Amino acid sequence: MRTRAVVFDAYGTLYDVQSVAAAAERHCPGRGDLITQVWRLKQLEYTWLRSLMGAPPDFALATRQSLAFALKGAGVAPEPALLDALAEEYLRLALYPEARAALEALSGVKRAILSNGTAAMLAPLVEGSGIRPLLDAVISVEGSGAFKPSPACYRLVEQVLGVPPDAVLFVSSNGFDVAGAKAFGFRVAQVVRGGAAAPPQAGPVAPAALFRLLRGRTEALGLDADHVVGSLMDLAGLVD
Ligand code: LAC
Repeated sequence: MRTRAVVFDAYGTLYDVQSVAAAAERHCPGRGDLITQVWRLKQLEYTWLRSLMGAPPDFALATRQSLAFALKGAGVAPEPALLDALAEEYLRLALYPEARAALEALSGVKRAILSNGTAAMLAPLVEGSGIRPLLDAVISVEGSGAFKPSPACYRLVEQVLGVPPDAVLFVSSNGFDVAGAKAFGFRVAQVVRGGAAAPPQAGPVAPAALFRLLRGRTEALGLDADHVVGSLMDLAGLVD
């Protein structure tokens, strides 16, 4: 079926979650990378734990609690002021450099975000980065009562955009999200910036490299993406 909508994951796909590293390093010298990687790994774990416990999909809380976990592990006291300062970085993450031009190139179809983020987190991020006029909808999973990869989240796309799953191209750099979207029935493009990372050399593995190993790769769940792209600019060529 003809593609009628391109729907993007937000964190890690349109916005660089690694951009919190500078603030983490500024506040916690020598520990910024460790905190950044453990934070993001644990943030997603907490979404899955909350889902299994039947807790509401509060991504602001999952972000704050996972940050407290990461800080404590790095030997830093999770004082409220520090939690505030670092959690606020999620409201102004860096937009990937090619994202605006890629969205402009897709003006012939509906464009939207479907994110675990709360509406209150997504609004300043999307407005502040200037891409709101390029989007038909910014959809938070909050309305589904679940976090990705619950099918209830992906179902929101048809409810909001009126486009059936087989006419959607879903775009994510997060392996678990790629698998979830594929299981749901979307056509899926996985973004792997810089291409597949080479296996690390023998010896200690730096936190950022460990993060890429765990989250920057295709999950071995038998739910591979239909397309793997190195840049969001490649998406226009996938839309008929
Ligand atoms: C999101 C997370 C999964 O934006 O990156 O939904």
